[in-house]
Amino acid sequence: SIVDPLLRTGYHFQPRKNWINDPNAPLYYKGWYHLFYQYNPKGAVWGNIVWGHSVSRDLINWVALQPAIEPSIPSDRYGCWSGSATTLADGTPAIMYTGVNRPDVNYQVQNVAYPRNRSDPLLREWVKPSHNPIIVPGGGINATQFRDPTTAWRAAGDGLWRLLIGSVTEARHGVAYVYRSRDFRRWTRARRPLHSAATGMWECPDFYPVGAPGRRAGVETETSAVSDGDGGSPRRRQQAKYVLKNSLDLRRYDYYTVGTYDRAAERYVPDDPAGDERHLRYDYGNFYASKTFYDPVKQRRVLWGWANESDTAADDVAKGWAGIQAIPRTVWLDPSGKQLLQWPIEEVEALRGRSVALKNRVIKPGQHVEVTGIQTAQADVEVSFEVSSLAGAEALLDPALASDAQRLCGARGAAVEGGVGPFGLWVLASGDREERTAVFFRVFRRGGGGGHDKPVVLMCTDPTKSSLDANLYQPTFAGFVDTDISNGKISLRTLIDRSVVESFGAGGRTCILSRVYPSIAIGSKARLYVFNNGRADVRVSRLTAWEMKKPLMNGA
Ligand code: FRU
Repeated sequence: SIVDPLLRTGYHFQPRKNWINDPNAPLYYKGWYHLFYQYNPKGAVWGNIVWGHSVSRDLINWVALQPAIEPSIPSDRYGCWSGSATTLADGTPAIMYTGVNRPDVNYQVQNVAYPRNRSDPLLREWVKPSHNPIIVPGGGINATQFRDPTTAWRAAGDGLWRLLIGSVTEARHGVAYVYRSRDFRRWTRARRPLHSAATGMWECPDFYPVGAPGRRAGVETETSAVSDGDGGSPRRRQQAKYVLKNSLDLRRYDYYTVGTYDRAAERYVPDDPAGDERHLRYDYGNFYASKTFYDPVKQRRVLWGWANESDTAADDVAKGWAGIQAIPRTVWLDPSGKQLLQWPIEEVEALRGRSVALKNRVIKPGQHVEVTGIQTAQADVEVSFEVSSLAGAEALLDPALASDAQRLCGARGAAVEGGVGPFGLWVLASGDREERTAVFFRVFRRGGGGGHDKPVVLMCTDPTKSSLDANLYQPTFAGFVDTDISNGKISLRTLIDRSVVESFGAGGRTCILSRVYPSIAIGSKARLYVFNNGRADVRVSRLTAWEMKKPLMNGA
């Protein structure tokens, strides 16, 4: 195979071998974090889906257990697809998941499973009660597009449980249906869905309350806790913010909106009426079917998301593995209240080893500086940039580009000289820089605004030169960064892990995960550079790069 074994990731979650996709039912129980995931026990391509199961004390070191949920009843015989966990009133976690019960057409129903032994902190065995399936499609629902139940929550007024199931209407609107239950056994669909939008099928919906804007931890709440809808004062009720996330089947990305939950009407209302069209994304790269959970230990909300390979299926079969989970991210509401911020969970920093730093280095137009002294194939890099002047920022006149970060970056990639930027990192680069993945910013000014408009900041990952191997999928990924760069300052953090480049721009305002497979820049041959391909000087106020150790990873 052309894909070198040294490109297997070191500290991103993956099983010892085989295919994985969606993270399922992340939860914390009696001292252990649990992660379940869509898993093919028989190979490195999608199929034969069961729930893989791993446990961890710190979300970093993982121990693999036997699969938790496998086809065993008529209502999941042809696959145990994605689902979520809910902590019941007595502290027992219940898992709801989609079962495929017909071989020919992927007919989907929802099942429940409970731990056989609640005193086992590892929750090794799961029992499916005989009353499964507990939710079946009906009333005009497309039975082949009806899946991925969320964590359930309860409301104060009637004490009923609610959960969402993703689907699509005949008019091709994505839809999140609400089901309600008193006993977690008999479920009835609410007349209207929680929300819907003209986006195509919604896979893996996720719906959760967020705490006070700007606070990373200590203010989040359990999804399954009674919502304060009726209990709180009207002011509090008005302030409680929720996030609704959906995975867009057709476009393969996870988008979300911030809004309010009108419990009386059982409806979710995005704050930005155009939010569903604006498509704010958790990640502008390779990141899909994500799911959050509430971590009671640190009172934070943690996001898991799946990153697929972008080599060929033949490569995956030869490697014997495919798919990883992105580094778990703490998510919280930005001070503006308009978007989420994301940051690698702090536990990741325990993997940091030897480090090197640059301080106060000016990178002149057209220059690059190599960061030497450590290996950087498996590293964590934090940089603070300061642009000398924004006066030379390129004008953004074409409205088609001004509204489409992806196209803008395609047209003005890392190699296209700009006014302010492109500046950033070349990671997993070969010594002659023939291979390199660019992670960078580029600053524009809007046309026609009399120069008073806020500069537009674009963040991109450009992997088009990441490998000399021609058979790879190398899409350029990009998103706008909603940050005030008027003081010239912007930060970047990039987690490099052999075939992963996972970046957090401006303190986690915009994130991009990309999979790359260098043919030269592998292991000790991988290098790291800071570059500036704009016409304005860029100062690296500070750059620190750490080698990253390998945690226990499921026995691999
Ligand atoms: C998302 C998804 C889910 C489904 C699962 C099957 O990637 O298609 O909608 O439950 O994967 O593995």
